[in-house]
Amino acid sequence: MCGIFGYVGSRTASPVLLDGLRTLEYRGYDSAGIYVPGYSPIKAVGPIDNLAKKIISPLSGTSGIAHTRWATHGAPTEVNAHPHLDMSGTLALVHNGIIENYRELKEGLVMRGIEFESETDSEVLAKLIGTLYKGDLFTATRNALSLVRGTYGIIVIAENDPNTIVTARMGSPIVLGLAVDGNFVSSDPSALLAHTKDVIYLADGECAIVSKDSYEVLSTKGKRLSKKPETVEWDIESVQKQGYEHFMQKEIFEVPEVIENTIRGRLMPGKGRAKLGGVEMVVDKLTALNRLVIVGCGSAYYAGLVGRFMLEEYAGLPVEVELGSEYRYKRNLTDKKTAVLAITQSGETADTLASIRSAKEQSLLTLGVVNVVGSTIARETDFGVYNHAGPEVAVASTKAFISQLTVFVLLTLLIGREKGLSQEEGTRIAEDLANLPKTLRSYLKNTDDIKRVAKKYANYRDMMFIGRKSHTPIAYEGSLKMKEVTYIHAEAYAGGELKHGSIAMLDENFPVVALVPKDDVYEKMISNVEEVKARKAPTLVVATEDDKSISGVADDVIFVPKVHPILQPIVSTVPLQLLSYYVGVEKGLNVDRPRNLAKSVTVE
Ligand code: AGP
Repeated sequence: MCGIFGYVGSRTASPVLLDGLRTLEYRGYDSAGIYVPGYSPIKAVGPIDNLAKKIISPLSGTSGIAHTRWATHGAPTEVNAHPHLDMSGTLALVHNGIIENYRELKEGLVMRGIEFESETDSEVLAKLIGTLYKGDLFTATRNALSLVRGTYGIIVIAENDPNTIVTARMGSPIVLGLAVDGNFVSSDPSALLAHTKDVIYLADGECAIVSKDSYEVLSTKGKRLSKKPETVEWDIESVQKQGYEHFMQKEIFEVPEVIENTIRGRLMPGKGRAKLGGVEMVVDKLTALNRLVIVGCGSAYYAGLVGRFMLEEYAGLPVEVELGSEYRYKRNLTDKKTAVLAITQSGETADTLASIRSAKEQSLLTLGVVNVVGSTIARETDFGVYNHAGPEVAVASTKAFISQLTVFVLLTLLIGREKGLSQEEGTRIAEDLANLPKTLRSYLKNTDDIKRVAKKYANYRDMMFIGRKSHTPIAYEGSLKMKEVTYIHAEAYAGGELKHGSIAMLDENFPVVALVPKDDVYEKMISNVEEVKARKAPTLVVATEDDKSISGVADDVIFVPKVHPILQPIVSTVPLQLLSYYVGVEKGLNVDRPRNLAKSVTVE
């Protein structure tokens, strides 16, 4: 939930640290700070710009550490901002994660007369390392960590040894960047791309001692480990706005290209099949499963709900979809013909990771559908599929969600064709999927109707989204986008549920967004629209372009292309993403960095 960054090299560190923080800002932006040996930490509440304003002239040091915070323990104040110092004020630490036993550690330190400024768990770790520091920073750090329970990604530096930074990882991502003018430590590779593509991902329980022209990876027990550098496939342009006003806007308009990247080399329209190198080895096991459990959080969970519909309807595979924060506590999962599939953009979501670890403890086959290469969940699952959606910087997931649905179509083809899906149907799906980027590229040429509607609906305080079958999860996702980007109170229901209570809320101030594709439940959804209109609720319908009568039913209509039913949820999602984006912009909100949120929920 926080972003940490460190540098040691030949360049002036402070501007390098600030740039690193700007790229990591999406991980949390309640406060930020930097520490360069020889100076006091500089900290500020709010976005990185507030910190930058406090750095009047570059600090002369060529090493340092930095932090952008999503508050967990202690309010987002300057005192609670990182970096935190030990009691001598000459050793600094930045931390991403939660020290679960920080209270007992703090009590012990207070009894030794050590005083604290902040309410944070991270300051306890800084002070603890300080009490163990006798000149060897790595030894002091690993001895302190042996007393810690919880999750951490930390970077530590000492004023009297400015050419060495020590980093350690347990549960929060850490990646080293190796460059000619120095070496870096970061929470994720996006902040390294301006300097290098040569990286080393630390695994849980690993540390590193990094200097300007060398590095050493060790276990927390001090055993030297040999880890080869890898090359990041992304480039710096992919994490910049490229002329768009916001990352969210850029990432929505990237959707056609993202689908192309997701399906590249994986579709065989002629045979009506898909091939996925990362799961080929277990296709037999997947087709023989008694059930597949899909685990995710937030938008990823909703993608799983759509995936369930696809896999059950077209591949005949029984699927359950579970929230990561719930499934992680399930035991007695004794049916070995069960596989657990984690769906996660970041590959670092703590609850999803905990669910995978629990499934592995119970000897279940685990799979991952992950966007960030080399992320923890990608590494810890037995098999999996990378999205290749490119870095998703905006906090609200858009292109990654579309890519997740696309991967589920590929998985449905792969498994379905082994379980009775006909070549003819497979070919129809594969051909429509192959054309989908072109269809959406044309659709996105003109989004004025959505912009117009957004202006009209921006001032409501409440909103309801409804759909049926594979569009019910799209209603959930549309509602989540609206909540997290515009702060409007948005709810979502299966259309059939309205009569069971929620329709009581509706009146002229409670608009309803209904997903009404021309499919086998079209008439049922039209009835829903009539019912809500009878309660004077304004109605906005997302309809397929072949619907010639809907305009007489709904107050406002957004038309979308008609595609194969399995792909229709993908197409219906795009206007909902744009709707929340344009409403957020209309309300003057920071759509890339919504309040109270962070991109990657790596705390539980
Ligand atoms: C998406 O708009 C949300 N910001 C959030 O729900 C996100 O989908 C969820 O935190 C899961 O993240 P993951 O895909 O990285 O695991």
